[in-house]
Formats: sequence, structure tokens, C-alpha cells
Amino acid sequence: MQSHFPKNFIWGTATSAYQIEGAYNEDGRTLSHWDTFCQEPGRVRGGDTGNVACDHYHRWREDIALMKDLGINAYRFSVSWTRILPNGEKQINSKGLDFYSQLVDTLLENGITPWLTLYHWELPQPLQARGGWAERWVCEPFTHLADVVSRHLGDRVQHWITHNEPWCTSLLSHQQGVHAPGWQDWNAALRAAHHVLLSHGMAVSVIRQNVPSAQVGITLNFEHATPASPSPEDLQAARIYDGYYNRWFLDPIFGMGYPADMVAHYQQSGHLPNGLDFVLPGDLPQIATPLDFLGINNYTGILASAPLQADGLPAVLPCSQERTDIGWGICPDGFYNLLNRIHFHYRPARMVITENGASFNDGPDEHGQVNDVRRVRYLEKHLLAVQRAIQNGCPIDGYFVWSLMDNFEWSWGYSQRFGIVHVDYATQKRTPKASYHFYKNFIQSN
Ligand code: FCB
Repeated sequence: MQSHFPKNFIWGTATSAYQIEGAYNEDGRTLSHWDTFCQEPGRVRGGDTGNVACDHYHRWREDIALMKDLGINAYRFSVSWTRILPNGEKQINSKGLDFYSQLVDTLLENGITPWLTLYHWELPQPLQARGGWAERWVCEPFTHLADVVSRHLGDRVQHWITHNEPWCTSLLSHQQGVHAPGWQDWNAALRAAHHVLLSHGMAVSVIRQNVPSAQVGITLNFEHATPASPSPEDLQAARIYDGYYNRWFLDPIFGMGYPADMVAHYQQSGHLPNGLDFVLPGDLPQIATPLDFLGINNYTGILASAPLQADGLPAVLPCSQERTDIGWGICPDGFYNLLNRIHFHYRPARMVITENGASFNDGPDEHGQVNDVRRVRYLEKHLLAVQRAIQNGCPIDGYFVWSLMDNFEWSWGYSQRFGIVHVDYATQKRTPKASYHFYKNFIQSN
């Protein structure tokens, strides 16, 4: 594949703490709401948990050696809240901070820039027990986490992501009930969304105070919504899905408040019986605190069609017949459209692809090699979409593959492999896949 990426482009891979670290009860770490969610029967496929995961807590040196060999210049990871603040609030566990401090030092020694995500879905269980993200007070402990971590690591970490995928933290977790805490309560989900966004705005200010040279952003996840037909009803269905998934987060972050059409639609659907009573004066400006960059996660898109269902959402189908093993449609053109649309409509100062990748469950062949050609093709197509978007003027300067290695895929457990490195969970053996070698060459030739 011919490619021309700008000089100094950021090439990375991404992971998150609960998905790889394991060591769930070591050195003072306590339970998060994902630990307890995994204990509930039927929540996670096969009853899998993140107790051991990729054992990265013990094998991180080996994992950094892989990153070094891969040739990436950036690594996106998240911190486990309960490793650092075991009761979720004031008391600090220095062993938890030491772990991340060593990780950061070793990354830097290897020429790899750390990109740190504060919240990738592990709320301390005591905070969940008091209502979690559905409650406004949760913004305070989150801001405290941001303060503690940025004070301790801000001398070495310059790139900060407050939240990973607020749509998942709020709607997927509180309305669809697929992720922890597994609620199915629209109003709680919309409150949770607001508190996630508000806590983001609060954390940005704290990080900037502690680390004046920091680059601070948030990572949103997107699904490009295409109408299933050109009929006005399907167009409206796609517009609603876009409001539900994308605009509900983009609009307030970029200073436009919550989208009026969606507020009206949610009111009509009964999801906002008291309107936006959870939005207090000052919240929207706080949420719209200017960002240094917008983190963009994208995997797939959907086709939306009328009529709307009882809860007000359209019926959706994958955006393409071609699917990954998790069933998500492969649609690089949707990704390309999305990138342009974010740039031309919202004008972020900087755009960084903080996650993109695919689940393909290929394992080692008789020679021990993992020939994941479908993932290579997926990555090629999506990198090309990024390149085209840059040529159109989108200020994209980084791309992180999800994921460095196979890991705990939330409610799918270990049944879905997104890594460019294969992990044998019985032995913890890491085997770079064909996609790893593809990415390595791709980085080198750019
Ligand atoms: C994203 C998550 C990441 C991983 C990928 C497949 O939504 O941020 O943790 O689960 O999907």
C-alpha cells in the first residue's frame, strides 16, 4: 500500500488497565464495578473476568519490549482507579502510583511517549454502590483522581485523556445494560452522560493547573449512521441514531449544548420526564472547556431504518455485509465521512485516532504463526481512510491501533481477539501476528 503520512506522525497502540493488567487484588488494588459485574451470573460470556487477563501487571517489561520492536512512538494506556485510590476517594495507595510511574519511565527510556487515559471504565465499587455516574457528586472523586495522577506523573506525562468513550460509560452501561453496572434506565443513562462530561470539564482544568504544558483531550466513540434507504423516514432514523450516539457528546463538548432535536425527541419518548433538570448553570461552559485534541475511536457504522421502536431508537443493521468476528460491519468509507464531518462541523484543534482495529479470532497455525490477513486488510483500509481525510485538511496527527495484544473484551470476555499480538491465556505467551509485522513495516516506510 502506497502511503504518505505527515512527518512526526504519532504511531501507537492502545490498551486499557482492566483489559490487560490482571493482578486484580494485588498491592492494595480493590474492586471496581467491572470486577463485581463480572461476578454477576450471565453478565460476561463464559463467566470470564479480568482477574488475570494478560498479566501485564507482572509482564509489562516484556510488553514494552514488544512495543519497542514494533517501532511505535506512542502508547495509550489507562490507570486503574482502585489501584491508586483503593476506597475511590482520598486515601492514596503509593504502590499503585509506583506501578504507573515505572511504566512511564520505561516507556520514555524506550522512546515511547505515554498517552494516559484516566477513566477507561473502572469505577471503584464503593462509588458504584452509592449510585455511580448517575449521581452528580461522582464528579468530585473523579476530579480528585485527575489531581492525584497528574501531580504524580505530570512531570513525565504530557498527553492526557480524561474519559474513554462517554457513550459506553453512560448509554451502553445504564440504558442498554451491556456494560457495568448493567442498568436499563434511560433517565439514569442521560444523567450519567452529563456527569461524565461535566467531570471531564472539571478534570481538564485540574490537569492544566498541575501540568501547564499538558495536551489534554477526551476520547469519544463514533458510529457513522447511514439511512437504509433515501426515504425521509430513514433519513430521520439515521439522524436520530446520530444524535443518540455521536451528537449528544460532540455538541456539548464543542460548545453547542445538547442537541435540541434530541432533547425534544427524548422528552417525547419519556426519557427526560423532568427535562434537563440535571444541567445546572455553569455546566455547559465547563463541559466546553477548549481541548488540545479530540480523541476519536471508530470500529464500525450502521444502517438505520424507520419505523422507530418503542424506546424511540431506529432499527439498525451493520453497515456492510463484510463483518469482523464480533459481527461489526467493515466500512472504511463511513470512517472517512465521519472524520471529515467532525473536522468541518466541529473544528477540533487537533484530531487523534485513539482506537481503531478489528476482532478476528485467528490463532497460531502448525508453525506457530498467526496469519491474520483479514486484520491486515482492515487496518490497510482504515489507514487509507485516515490518509485521505488528512489530504482533505483534517488535522489528524496520530493513530493508535486497538489493541497491542488480545485481551479481556468486556462482556464478550476472552471470546474476541483484537490484538496485533496473540496471547495464549493458558501460558501468557505473546506471539506477534502478521498484522504486527504489517504495522511495523507500515510505520517504518512512513
Ligand atoms: C472500545 C473500547 C475498548 C475495546 C474496543 C474493542 O469501545 O474502548 O476498550 O473494548 O472497543
